Amino acid sequence: MVIKLRWLLQIYRNFQDLKFPDELTPIRAPGLDEPFGRRLISSGNLIPGRGMKKSLILSSDNFTTYIVMPSFSGKIVWITGASSGIGEALVALLAKEQATLILSSRREDELRRVQKTCGLTDECCLILPFDLEQLGNPSKLVEIVLARYGQIDVLINNGGISQRAYAKDTDIGTDRRLMEVNYFGPVALTKSVLPGMISRKSGQIVVISSVAGKFGFFLRSAYSASKHALQGFFESLRMELFADNIQVLLVCPGKIATHISVNALTADGKRSGRMDDAQANGMTAETCARRILEAMKQQKEEIIIGNSREQTAVWLKRFFPHFFSKMIRKQKAE
Ligand SMILES: NC(=O)c1ccc[n+]([C@@H]2O[C@H](COP(=O)([O-])OP(=O)(O)OC[C@H]3O[C@@H](n4cnc5c(N)ncnc54)[C@H](OP(=O)(O)O)[C@@H]3O)[C@@H](O)[C@H]2O)c1
Repeated sequence: MVIKLRWLLQIYRNFQDLKFPDELTPIRAPGLDEPFGRRLISSGNLIPGRGMKKSLILSSDNFTTYIVMPSFSGKIVWITGASSGIGEALVALLAKEQATLILSSRREDELRRVQKTCGLTDECCLILPFDLEQLGNPSKLVEIVLARYGQIDVLINNGGISQRAYAKDTDIGTDRRLMEVNYFGPVALTKSVLPGMISRKSGQIVVISSVAGKFGFFLRSAYSASKHALQGFFESLRMELFADNIQVLLVCPGKIATHISVNALTADGKRSGRMDDAQANGMTAETCARRILEAMKQQKEEIIIGNSREQTAVWLKRFFPHFFSKMIRKQKAE
């Protein structure tokens, strides 16, 4: 009994200590001649099969925990909003892992800049510009990708815009625009990508929601609504696709230092052009992207990325909604 408790305690400690390196380092496990990590990766069977979240081996002699990190090498990854901020940072990390990337957003010149700065050749990168607001039926875009690469392993729905205006002042046209870009666009794109994933019984869909998808905030009524809508849609989709081995990851970042507030829409739908103080002092896009990639590799269902205040806010809203409501309305409207 005592020994079992010691084992459990040690396993718990090992979990606490787990570090997720940027790149896979070969791991030598007791009793195996070859580095365990490298052998499994080279056989290419770690992504995205369910049950392969983490491979843990507890050695019998010293209780050491070994972790094998899957890699995105050779995977076909389509990412929207790839021209700046979090999307650009994700492209840089995935390029290092030698993923094949499809980069989308409205500005083709910016997508080409990202391709160049990330050292992506034309063979392993397709530039596919489009406007999420005018997406209509995206099956033609999917056909272009399939004609070139044959399949899509991962779709990252990252493209989006924010809002800086009170609900009472915001034109209904601006509300609709935010819903088109942040909600209907990603939903339509996902629906077009799904048939291929379902037939292969494999795939991963990543959705960049927000802590504003967990609770409302000043000046963000439509933005927050669009992110809440994403949460509802993709949580339901996750259940529906479980049997098809398709994994859905919802990412809820807090303040990340990107141009999101500069690009945010004002009441009449114009670009705000203003960098918020909190935004400028937020977490870097690179750190945020690293956390997203870790969560993708671990096949998590949801992650909150933010400082302790933001993490606590999500927790308070869930367990003490009335107290949370009193606290949040004292925040600065920015
Ligand atoms: N930064 C934060 O604090 C924060 C927090 C929570 C969640 N998020 C979410 O993270 C995602 C990325 O935002 P970011 O912070 O990286 O901001 P960002 O630097 O402004 O990037 C937004 C990206 O979305 C693309 N985009 C915007 N409107 C589009 C449209 N109509 N059609 C196609 N693409 C469009 C932009 O490219 P083009 O201009 O070239 O189209 C750009 O690549 C968004 O979904 C955002 O809601 C951000």
